[in-house]
Amino acid sequence: MNDKNINRCLIILLLITGCQKAKTKVENIQSVPFIAVDDPHSYSSPEEARVKHLHLELDVNFDKQELTGKAIWSIDVSSESKEIIFDTDALVIDKITKGANDTPVAFVLKDADSILGSALHIPVESFDSIVTIYYRTTSESNALQWLDPTQTGDGKHRFLFTQSQAILARSWIPVQDSPGIRFSYTATVHVPAGYFALMSARNPQQTNSEGVYEFEQPHPIPAYLMALAVGVLGFDAVGDRCGVYAEPGLLEAARYELAEMQQMLEATESLFGPYAWERYDVLVLPPSFPFGGMENPMLTFATPTILAGDRSLTALIAHELAHSWSGNLVTNANWNDFWLNEGFTVYVERRIMEALYGKPYADMLAVLGYQDLINTIDELTASGDTADAALVISLEGRNPDDGVTDVAYEKGAFLLSTIESITGRDRFDAFLSSYFSEHAFTSVTTQQFVEYLYNNLLEKGSAEDQKLHLNVWLYTSRIPDIFLVPFSTRFEQTETEALAFLNGKSAANLKTKDWSSHEWQYFLRRIADSVSYAKHQELDRVYNLSKSNNAEIAVLFYKTSIRLGYKSCFPQIEIFLSKVGRRKFLTPLYQSLLNNKETEEWGRHIYARNRSRYHSVSRNTLDALMNK
Ligand code: BES
Ligand code: ZN
Repeated sequence: MNDKNINRCLIILLLITGCQKAKTKVENIQSVPFIAVDDPHSYSSPEEARVKHLHLELDVNFDKQELTGKAIWSIDVSSESKEIIFDTDALVIDKITKGANDTPVAFVLKDADSILGSALHIPVESFDSIVTIYYRTTSESNALQWLDPTQTGDGKHRFLFTQSQAILARSWIPVQDSPGIRFSYTATVHVPAGYFALMSARNPQQTNSEGVYEFEQPHPIPAYLMALAVGVLGFDAVGDRCGVYAEPGLLEAARYELAEMQQMLEATESLFGPYAWERYDVLVLPPSFPFGGMENPMLTFATPTILAGDRSLTALIAHELAHSWSGNLVTNANWNDFWLNEGFTVYVERRIMEALYGKPYADMLAVLGYQDLINTIDELTASGDTADAALVISLEGRNPDDGVTDVAYEKGAFLLSTIESITGRDRFDAFLSSYFSEHAFTSVTTQQFVEYLYNNLLEKGSAEDQKLHLNVWLYTSRIPDIFLVPFSTRFEQTETEALAFLNGKSAANLKTKDWSSHEWQYFLRRIADSVSYAKHQELDRVYNLSKSNNAEIAVLFYKTSIRLGYKSCFPQIEIFLSKVGRRKFLTPLYQSLLNNKETEEWGRHIYARNRSRYHSVSRNTLDALMNK
């Protein structure tokens, strides 16, 4: 052990009660090969001074809607460096100290930038190994959503959750908020008695009567994977490595819907190598959660809109699980390379679905994804933003949220399936498995991926390489001709039925008996632009689509209802918009409302009434939509 480590060990021994615990903590500070990559979305300067491990102590105060506490950072400072820089946004910094005896230091909190927040500069020397930041969150802390009981499923208790991706971690923890910087963490969280706390870490399975919870994430993770949820929750196992957390009233439905989780986990392991995170649990959040899912390590956060009752939306769980390899284990080094996270994940997601339910099922997902991609590319082209239709994009000076489009997801996945089609599946799978294991717990750039591809799978300049046109995928808005447009045998019949329906076949005579929610989605998309009021109404009469439990189907039906002014569906639309906060659903619905002169004012009204009940992520997108 060198001097620095001895020093760190002593300090941690002093800081934390219990030698045994302190020992684990020191051992958990892993040494990870570190390559500094420019990140336009972080003020930190990791080649000079960077974080290694966090011990977080937080009090959760529902009355004040405030987190208070301290972040104890183990740091590494280079010999030339005089300071360490953290990212913060909307935090109140009360005090900062160094070392074991808590010596206060003068720090500088710079003026806030509207996207990046405020840089926090703390003077340190190369012998410093601990800084402690005492701080509070504020009402502007955009990662946090504080829910009153009416926004939860049981209607009785309050709820708090965080959403850190892409750059919101800094609004609840002072942190080096770059996906290229990793740290392990431990945490102690105090919540009101009776409440449960969960993090992206080893989690409890029972309520603690005093409301004190201890967490440990032994692996180094980037800041965007920091997560906390607090509410009244129960747990149920769905295997020895998997389980669900949900409000008690939803627990049974959640356990049923997600019963295949562990099979998904095992299927992924046999395709791409061992699961690195011990357990995989899912927390079903209240409906205001702004995303479908968020891949917080060891504990995916999920929208309750996946609880369709028939396991038809579980591809979303396959997706978040897939991030345990692509994203959480091997991470995009900055947000310009976001496709490395999401494109790989969609590819792995479809492989999981294929392993569990067969190729015809996975092909349906690919076809729907392809439709999304073409729509997105058309929209980007129409608005002159073709540069964003490349896989590698430039987000400098912009909110990284601008890069969250189907291009990263679908074009990224289609690049990988195209490489697979060129090399054959066996070679590609072996390549992908070693890509994951050789880059485990590190962050990579597109350039590193390209080098790895040429060193391990494709020979540069070979016939295979020339077919691929890699640079066209990566750096242009185009998709090379080698790409095989996905095709689904199951949708052939759906296509026939959709055309027949448009040509007058009655709704009752449609052969829908074997349709999963994917055939319904295909059908509703196919008829959306041309179906008449009468046929739309007939569809509702026969299949009761305005009351569908499946949010994907309901939203498609609502969109057309708005276009056609099908008023008997409007109360349902309003109920949906005042309950669900998932951006992917809110955006097209509000867009449709604004597009129609008859519904525009009503749409603005609904938004004004519900705006404060949406998470900041959804609010930001919708504010922009309302002001366009
Ligand atoms: N990591 C993303 C969510 C995300 C991306 C949050 C960028 C913030 C910034 C997550 O894995 C995701 O992609 N969720 C999708 C579901 C998926 C099935 C495509 C969603 O929320 O809709
Ligand atoms: Zn994802």
